[in-house]
Amino acid sequence: MAKSKKSAKKTKSAAKKPARKVVKLAAKKPAAKKASAKPAAKKSNGNGAPKPSSKPFGLAGKALDGVRILDFTHVQSGPTCTQLLAWFGADVIKVERPGVGDITRGQLVDVKGADSLYFTMLNHNKRSITIDSKHPQGKRVLNELIKKCDVLVENFAPGALDRMGLTWEHIHKLNPRMIVASVKGFGPGPYEDCKVYENVAQCTGGSASTTGFREGPPLVTGAQIGDSGTGLHLALGIVTALYQRNRTGRGQKVLAAMQDGVLNLCRVKLRDQQRLKAGPLTEYSQYGEGVPFGDATPRAGNDSGGGQPGWILKCKGWETDPNAYIYFITQAPVWAAICDLIGEPTWKTDPEYATPRARLPKLKAIFRRIEDWTMTMTKFEVMNACNAVDIPVGPILSMKEIAEDESLRATGTVVEVDHPTRGKYLSVGNPIKMSDSVTEVKRSPLLGEHTDEILTSVLGFKAKEVAEIKNSGALSAPQKEEKAA
Ligand code: COA
Repeated sequence: MAKSKKSAKKTKSAAKKPARKVVKLAAKKPAAKKASAKPAAKKSNGNGAPKPSSKPFGLAGKALDGVRILDFTHVQSGPTCTQLLAWFGADVIKVERPGVGDITRGQLVDVKGADSLYFTMLNHNKRSITIDSKHPQGKRVLNELIKKCDVLVENFAPGALDRMGLTWEHIHKLNPRMIVASVKGFGPGPYEDCKVYENVAQCTGGSASTTGFREGPPLVTGAQIGDSGTGLHLALGIVTALYQRNRTGRGQKVLAAMQDGVLNLCRVKLRDQQRLKAGPLTEYSQYGEGVPFGDATPRAGNDSGGGQPGWILKCKGWETDPNAYIYFITQAPVWAAICDLIGEPTWKTDPEYATPRARLPKLKAIFRRIEDWTMTMTKFEVMNACNAVDIPVGPILSMKEIAEDESLRATGTVVEVDHPTRGKYLSVGNPIKMSDSVTEVKRSPLLGEHTDEILTSVLGFKAKEVAEIKNSGALSAPQKEEKAA
């Protein structure tokens, strides 16, 4: 999709003569237009799409081959999004501030002098160029990049992109096909100018008020639903905008607000908010315990949100292992199997236990009885015993167990990546598997590693122009310049 200055020139000069001929033909015989459309129709399957590729699955390129991304993202939310696009084959050019780069390069450092895991695990398969976006020569380079890219992705504080001079109007004028995609903390409204981090979004998106135990304070969750969750939402918005552009020929603005993304993931809690009007929420254990409901969706502890009572139960070794637990659901269809497994066969027919309604007020006692059984086995033994009779359960896996899980390694969900300054490290690979667009996880770029390559092969700048831009200081840190002087 995006063409380099150099390759565009090359194509132009190589095709000079035939291009003239085509123009002549078209001018003389308008019918020639129809004729030139014919071969394309032959290649199509009739609905405008090309004929199915004859190449084996996985060898017909990547889903987003040809899409070039101008990646202005930093920290976590934006980089998650552009990393996904890179895994799907997009050429992601990460623009970083000279000398500093994405702030996460130097955050939570575990290997001195090397990029942090925070950075490396969020920036695979990208190229890095350093540009001072406020320097006149930096602006010149950025303008050229805007012309050559399909999507600009950013998650600066509100207004920062405009302050760089990169307003929607400016970008759209330079490249009407450009999609401008942003993560912000809030959508338009009273908080639109606020800066936002992960936990702020978890709190304002409804997650924290509905997480934790009834008796305790609101809780944030370890899953980065505000950052990575919003990055996922933005990635979907971008590919959808690319699809629409195939029809309209023009770009558009895409906004994923972190509050909105978190709320989308908390959809079932807004469901429960409205159900409160119709009476107490019977699947919440507080109902069985006789605790009255207030006027907002309460914290549900470890209750299952799906209407089938569930809880986290101890397994063998819980006294010393903080993760020797399992999530257990007393699903109505498998109640008989549960009774047999735990050694309470009479509960299958006893009217005090046989129906979900009869069990509701005694759930605490029932789970205690099931726990007596789960505590006799390890979480994996409980999992095997339950799955043998189709009872779904969730062993609480530690990050250590996940890191060592062979099946996750085999599918590429956990990958080992080599890095020139930090050595080997583990990362989460692409969680979305596609049979015709297979992900290869490549290490994150060093700061400015691809600056020259991008200036010459993407933007087509001549050596003299590159030298001029570099000498201006637009691509290097001011301190380094002072030292050199
Ligand atoms: N060259 C020159 N200046 C650059 C630059 C570059 N290559 N890259 C960034 N900057 C400047 C910006 O222009 C901005 O300057 P300004 O304030 O004068 O306009 C400055 O660096 C700081 O950028 P900002 O985005 O405000 O960073 P921050 O550290 O102050 O705030 C966030 C960080 C994450 C709170 C903020 O970016 C934000 O709210 N983003 C949207 C929500 C989000 O994504 N949050 C989650 C992050 S995981």
